[in-house]
Amino acid sequence: MLCGSYYRNHTHGVNVMEQKKTIFSGIQPSGGLTIGNYIGALRNWKSLQNEYDCYYSVVDLHAVTVRQVPSELRRRVYETFALLLALGLDPNENTVFVQSHVPAHSQMCWALNCYTYYGELGRMTQFKEKSERHPDNINAGLFDYPVLMAGDILLYNTDLVPVGADQKQHLEITRDIAIRFNNIYGDVFKVPEPYIPKMGARVMSLQEPTKKMSKSDENENGFIAILDEPDVIARKLKRAVTDSEGSIVAREDKPGVTNLMGILGALTGKTMEEIEDDFAGKGYGHLKSAVTDVVIEELRPIQEEFKRLISDKAQLEELMKQGRDKANRVAGRTMAKVYKKMGFIGLR
Ligand code: TRP
Repeated sequence: MLCGSYYRNHTHGVNVMEQKKTIFSGIQPSGGLTIGNYIGALRNWKSLQNEYDCYYSVVDLHAVTVRQVPSELRRRVYETFALLLALGLDPNENTVFVQSHVPAHSQMCWALNCYTYYGELGRMTQFKEKSERHPDNINAGLFDYPVLMAGDILLYNTDLVPVGADQKQHLEITRDIAIRFNNIYGDVFKVPEPYIPKMGARVMSLQEPTKKMSKSDENENGFIAILDEPDVIARKLKRAVTDSEGSIVAREDKPGVTNLMGILGALTGKTMEEIEDDFAGKGYGHLKSAVTDVVIEELRPIQEEFKRLISDKAQLEELMKQGRDKANRVAGRTMAKVYKKMGFIGLR
């Protein structure tokens, strides 16, 4: 198969060309990515870039399944793209691109639509939830969202997809569609597997610590955005909900304190026991200020790099073109193969 990249393996004194596995992930240009996204997923992406052939797409086509203000969407696509690079993803090692820049995503979506059933899309929990939340705009794109996503993944002969719980069902349907297509046309698609990251620390809301931290939280104090200024981070952590007991121990009935300890542990590498020892006899104020310092220091280099990148649109667009061209080569090849299998006439 003509995909992936190669590296030389010098073991046993022989040059064996080995193929790296391909990882694909899409990220919504919704702005306000949180430290929950960072700790749970984004910071791992950088560590994957040597071992895997990684594709990261800013999925603007997915974004328009709910109503967008065009100027804001445009700004957020620039920002999300810049943020991915600021996180340390090397644009030469990875393929970082904007989904709408690669026409094969729309083409593949249409092709796969004809191999996907109304019934199976209707069973998607995210569709059911979103249509409840936007009852005035249950558009065909929202219904079709998982097929667009299946196309994203299948275009790149993806082996592994890092997915959170909310996207597991979409990966399942991707596999079902790929297998169905392969059963008709032979071995066209690689059937992707979920990639389960090593540390999947779950960061909870600072205001309602039994709920996952989310950028769409109505209460701004519930989440810390990766791009929040230091004083905002300090303020939000100061207001984080704890409890009235006063001891710094990780326990199920102390979700607020446990969450703060979890953030600290995730960013310092310390275990909960070590943190309990460090803070024995100390108050919540100490814990909060320690978390504040660590979060600010962790985000500082990312924020600085982001500011540098976002201030130079011309350079960002050059990097977007570079990503588009790399993605286009692989996606175009898969698309041509699929069209041919389906019986379309390919002109040269
Ligand atoms: N649907 C994903 C989300 O909302 C984003 C996404 C689009 C994606 N295409 C993808 C994720 C392909 C993984 C693979 O988070």
